[in-house]
Amino acid sequence: MRTLKTSATLFLFFVVALQIESHVHATEESFTSIVISQNGVDFVKDLLITKEIASIVPLKLPKIEKTVKIPFVGNVRMVLSNITIYRIDVSSSYVKPGESGVVIVASGTTCNLSMNWYYEYSTWLVPVEISDKGRASVQVEGMEVGLTLGLENQKGTLKLSLMDCGCHVKDISIKVDGGASWLYQGMIDAFEEQIGSAVENAITKKLEEGILKLDSFLQSLPKEIPVDNHASLNVTFVDSPLVSSSSIGFDINGLFTAREKVPSPKYFHQNLQPSVSCTDQSKMLGISLDEAVFNSASALYYDAEFMQWTVDKVPDQSLLNTAGWKYIIPQLYRKYPNDDMMLNITFSSPPVIRVSEHNIDASVNVDLIIDVLEEDEAIPVACIALVVRGSGSVKISGNNLAGSVKLNDFTMSLKWSKIGNLRLYLIQPVIWTVIQTVFLPYVNSHLGQGFPLPIIHSFTLKNAEIICSSSKITVCSDVAYTESLNLNQLLVRFS
Ligand SMILES: *[C@@H]1O[C@H](CO)[C@@H](O)[C@H](O)[C@H]1NC(C)=O
Ligand SMILES: *[C@@H]1O[C@H](CO)[C@@H](O)[C@H](O)[C@H]1NC(C)=O
Ligand SMILES: *[C@@H]1O[C@H](CO)[C@@H](O)[C@H](O)[C@H]1NC(C)=O
Ligand SMILES: *[C@@H]1O[C@H](CO)[C@@H](O)[C@H](O)[C@H]1NC(C)=O
Repeated sequence: MRTLKTSATLFLFFVVALQIESHVHATEESFTSIVISQNGVDFVKDLLITKEIASIVPLKLPKIEKTVKIPFVGNVRMVLSNITIYRIDVSSSYVKPGESGVVIVASGTTCNLSMNWYYEYSTWLVPVEISDKGRASVQVEGMEVGLTLGLENQKGTLKLSLMDCGCHVKDISIKVDGGASWLYQGMIDAFEEQIGSAVENAITKKLEEGILKLDSFLQSLPKEIPVDNHASLNVTFVDSPLVSSSSIGFDINGLFTAREKVPSPKYFHQNLQPSVSCTDQSKMLGISLDEAVFNSASALYYDAEFMQWTVDKVPDQSLLNTAGWKYIIPQLYRKYPNDDMMLNITFSSPPVIRVSEHNIDASVNVDLIIDVLEEDEAIPVACIALVVRGSGSVKISGNNLAGSVKLNDFTMSLKWSKIGNLRLYLIQPVIWTVIQTVFLPYVNSHLGQGFPLPIIHSFTLKNAEIICSSSKITVCSDVAYTESLNLNQLLVRFS
């Protein structure tokens, strides 16, 4: 058994094709921007390389056949078959986003192959045919693999294309089990180049297939993420991705839309492109949501008549009997003594949300109708218009952005009354109690569930932080990959 090592003569220069994707002027509105930082891109690259390599091997190469002239032996027909790459190791890799596309280079890659060899010859000395066969193993070292990927927006989904792909083998060493000594040199001389280019071709082809699959995975991403039965988030990509030297940015529509195909309310006409700025530059991902996203949710649920409910149970049930209002609205008690009451709360306009550096303000116009229950009939007796102002806070719950509000203040005015004038200053403490113990808990139970941030399924946010700035909320986070079928299915090799 002997090992011979020589340098392959094949050189494939990996040229980065400069295909500058000219940026189309923004024609559509985007209210959510996602930026993947260099750290995020590295994370995805490592994930893909690990997965991709696991899925490449074992890789069969086509049979190689050749007749070589060997000194003192003559013409020998040699055949290599059952050539299999069974192991690939990538020693280092890097990814660099750039204007021309995203360049991925894996260098110092080694791979191990096994194969069957076979030869036959006849000479004038020995006119009968001589043949032999055995196994051989080949090590390919110092292989460089480079890819340039293009990303563009195609009708609202991401299109990934392979702009350039190259694989260059530097060293090959062949180890032959059995056979005659002349065979080693003969094999090296005759097959080195061919094995090298077979490996290069096979790997290039596999990568092309891998990119195709990644592309179809991206194309298959939904354009809407369901939030609940009523709403979904429009995650249609708007404009081409913005690839800079240290990040890749995506703009998506980001607004809430109704799940039933009723036209969604159009409240916002500014052409916004929220920019993403994380204070911690090392975070993998930044997602910026314009306040329009929250206001689109507010408009949608308002249209869905979600924002209306009746209250017939409160923590202090005496508040829902006219007896409890005896001294506050004496005429109510006189007219309907000891009758149960019900409160009918309706939003009179969609809540308005404003985000600033220091605060998330929400203001809500509510009509509060006081109903008296007589023989199971609800008799509306008065309506108080409230303007409730609260401040909100947001947090990350799983991959959701969730929130809560607390009361800042409220104003009230009498809209109509069937029981004469009401002394609002007397009613105010009761209303305060209703807002604190009924209204806010109700609202917060909905806000607490939050809505999903646009993140691909198998990834989860990790160490997220939230930054509020003028009119936008930015989530800066690392991500973790949780094994799921998605990416595995995606990278399962063709058999
Ligand atoms: C082909 O190679 C594989 C290992 O890569 C081996 O298990 C198999 O037996 C070989 N087949 C033949 C016909 O030699
Ligand atoms: C693959 O080849 C490398 C050298 O390139 C060697 O160190 C390693 O042991 C081989 N692995 C296997 C599983 O044969
Ligand atoms: C989703 O967003 C895209 C891009 O802004 C827009 O063209 C499309 O009409 C939106 N879909 C819905 C259902 O609103
Ligand atoms: C609550 O009030 C609204 C008008 O503001 C009315 O349309 C609705 O029917 C009332 N609901 C109940 C249960 O009384």
